[in-house]
Amino acid sequence: MDKIVALCKRRGFIFPGSEIYGGLAGTWDYGPLGVLLKRNIKEEWWKSMVGFRDDVVGIDAAIMMNPVTWQKSGHVDAFTDPLVECKTCHQRFRADKEDEIKAHEKTHKGKTQWTPPKKFNLLVKAYLGIVEGKQSEIYLRGEITQGAFVNFENVVSSTRVKIPFGIAQIGKAFRNEITPGNFTYRSREFEQMELEFFIKPDDKEGDKWFEYWKVRRMDWYISLGMDAKNLRFRKHEESERAHYAKYAEDIEYNAPFGWSEFEGIHHRGDWDLSRHSLSYVDENGEKFTPWTIEASGGVDRSALFFLLNAYAEDNGRVFLKLHPKLAPYKTAVFPLLANKPELVNKAKGIYDSLKPHFMTAWDARGNIGKRYFAQDEAGTPFCITVDFQTMEDDTVTVRDRDSAKQERIKIDKLKDYILSKIS
Ligand code: GAP
Repeated sequence: MDKIVALCKRRGFIFPGSEIYGGLAGTWDYGPLGVLLKRNIKEEWWKSMVGFRDDVVGIDAAIMMNPVTWQKSGHVDAFTDPLVECKTCHQRFRADKEDEIKAHEKTHKGKTQWTPPKKFNLLVKAYLGIVEGKQSEIYLRGEITQGAFVNFENVVSSTRVKIPFGIAQIGKAFRNEITPGNFTYRSREFEQMELEFFIKPDDKEGDKWFEYWKVRRMDWYISLGMDAKNLRFRKHEESERAHYAKYAEDIEYNAPFGWSEFEGIHHRGDWDLSRHSLSYVDENGEKFTPWTIEASGGVDRSALFFLLNAYAEDNGRVFLKLHPKLAPYKTAVFPLLANKPELVNKAKGIYDSLKPHFMTAWDARGNIGKRYFAQDEAGTPFCITVDFQTMEDDTVTVRDRDSAKQERIKIDKLKDYILSKIS
């Protein structure tokens, strides 16, 4: 974990939020490489959930919503974690996180006294309005989900969707987490990628779609390179289920800090639509309240686990074996020597010709070994070097990140060669 945190800072994946002012707990800023990784994750998710399907449409709802939304959805009353406070040092913890409680007790040599658990609401408040004293209190959305429910009727009436169908969305959510931690894993501002899939209120349909989305979502992570043996499903006990969930299973990753949830498949039944007094009329004129099967993934947690999954060391060489679809840069182009104008010009020409097709980096600093080292840590799958042979036969070396092997490719075949490897 320490190695990944250091690499993320060193290479520009992830920085602590507002670091020059001492940071802000539970916030993180994505740097030049991190933003590309995140965009690629979101792009792949969107393609698989919306682009390739004809039964799912996307929306992008507002972060600030009428606060009645959160009363109806049950979040004002029930979106809580049990909070306990150490009577000695007044630090606050989640009572249900046994390992964190135990770790704190050790710091007081087992003599910690705790306050009784009280319910702590996770919704983040904000104030809207321009007249002092007359501002209205609102909540920043605690899950992006409610935007899909409040737009249910708008989507049905403005598109051709018919049940079963889904509404997909990606966006920021905010939670006043009691103990943010484990790098980006538990943040106070984070991004979710969610599908709300509406079905007939019928047990068989519920089971069928729940199973369908479970498998689809697990397969998606594996198709992008996550090692299946580090993934598992975990059923929620009744006591840990969110207030809206009839039934829930998590997808967990075997992280350095233990098996950890990064996507939840939830059977929300008719909880939300009925709380918002929304219903659906089918083609036979039958009116009912659909059930919702939800697949709710975290973009930040996925990014963290894709990074952890990709981290590799080989004889002192560190590289990120990110799936090419997720890698921030697909290629990097170098002149073998930066002080030979003919090599630099030739390499620049290749760089300019590849750039419109996929993210291509340029590097002419230091020696070639250092450049490979930097691109390995950035997870760039292919490095292209222009050398003296290039000037004779129009070939370049293409070095594979994972094997570190090189082959010579004709310049006019380069674009198609790289495209065939990254798509
Ligand atoms: N709409 C359902 C929902 O929000 P959740 O299990 O509370 O369900 C879904 O959250 C996903 O959002 C989680 O699996 C996780 O990936 C991400 N997530 C939740 N809280 C988070 C936090 N504090 N920091 C980072 N990601 C978080």
